Amino acid sequence: MVVISALTSFFGYQVYKFKSRKRRYVPQPKALLKRAERYPEPFPNGWFNICASKEIKNGQVKEVEAFGQKLAVFRGEDGKVGVFDVYCPHLQANLADGKVVGNHLVCPFHAWEFNHTGKCQRIPYSDGVPSHAKANAWTVRECWGLILVWYHKNDKAPNWLPDKYLPELSEYKYHGKKTDLLHIHLQDFAENGADYAHFKYVHDLLTIPFSNRFVALKHSLEIQFGEGEESHLAWFTDKAQLVWKKSEKIIKQGGGEALVTYFGPGFLVFRFTSRIAKDVILLKSFTPLGPLRLRMDDYIYAPKGTNRLAIKYILREASAQFKDDIMIWEKKGYSEKPLLVKGDGPIMQMRKWYQQFYSDL
Ligand code: FES
Ligand SMILES: [Fe+2]
Repeated sequence: MVVISALTSFFGYQVYKFKSRKRRYVPQPKALLKRAERYPEPFPNGWFNICASKEIKNGQVKEVEAFGQKLAVFRGEDGKVGVFDVYCPHLQANLADGKVVGNHLVCPFHAWEFNHTGKCQRIPYSDGVPSHAKANAWTVRECWGLILVWYHKNDKAPNWLPDKYLPELSEYKYHGKKTDLLHIHLQDFAENGADYAHFKYVHDLLTIPFSNRFVALKHSLEIQFGEGEESHLAWFTDKAQLVWKKSEKIIKQGGGEALVTYFGPGFLVFRFTSRIAKDVILLKSFTPLGPLRLRMDDYIYAPKGTNRLAIKYILREASAQFKDDIMIWEKKGYSEKPLLVKGDGPIMQMRKWYQQFYSDL
């Protein structure tokens, strides 16, 4: 995941990657389930990205997939968003095929009307509405330009709210989005940051043509875990420098810094700073769809006036770096007790932090 190495070519060095990118691996469903057996449960507890706010305009309804099921997302004319299990509580029609009338979602089968909290407000052919007539509504929050829902295996209420973080996003310029469907477990993203030994072998691929024996990338990493009310946060900084291999002397113009923050299991935020671009933000969201099936969305923000080419460059390289990780993650297994040695990084500490998101551990 270390993306910072991408920044090195900003500083006067023409840097090329020699590793060819292989075609994406598509696993067979049976093999996928077999692999999933040894992984922790597929849906940790937390806030997850359902879709971008602008995808659901006033009066619109849409079907989305998450947590092994289908959800209906709609927005009333008042701008409020409701997210329901897709099957109508009456006779199980697909509510995402319904329409929005005023502030209500109307079922396509018998026209029952639901408000954004899921409560049935009207049954057009019957007197009154039974009090238990409710669509199964999810806890929703809109922030960061996204519609977030809270997932908890045992239906516990949220123990943290996303809204207070990243207020600067509303000031920054939005530079686009990229979506990938991956066959991996969310936890592998978290472990990646703590797996120091892989950086050299997976990411340390930048070389200067004809002189690749003499120059190397040196990462220095530091991980911290949130405590108390901030226990859902973890962050690390990655400082990368170009060094001469022989003398290990730093090449002054090279390098850059990334601050990476985990917001529970569903979000990862990278902030890149280098000499020519400050605080370019890559907001990554992970929406688990099923066992080892995951949607990953990248949203890009930067302060107004940031050089567009710099943003483009950082992002292209960032996504290339992730591809290297993903090629490994999509085929790897999981062991509860990995055979770790000195120099492996705080992988077990990261797992310990991550366990708070599983209900049964
Ligand atoms: S199935 Fe939805 S109103 Fe009957
Ligand atoms: Fe990585």
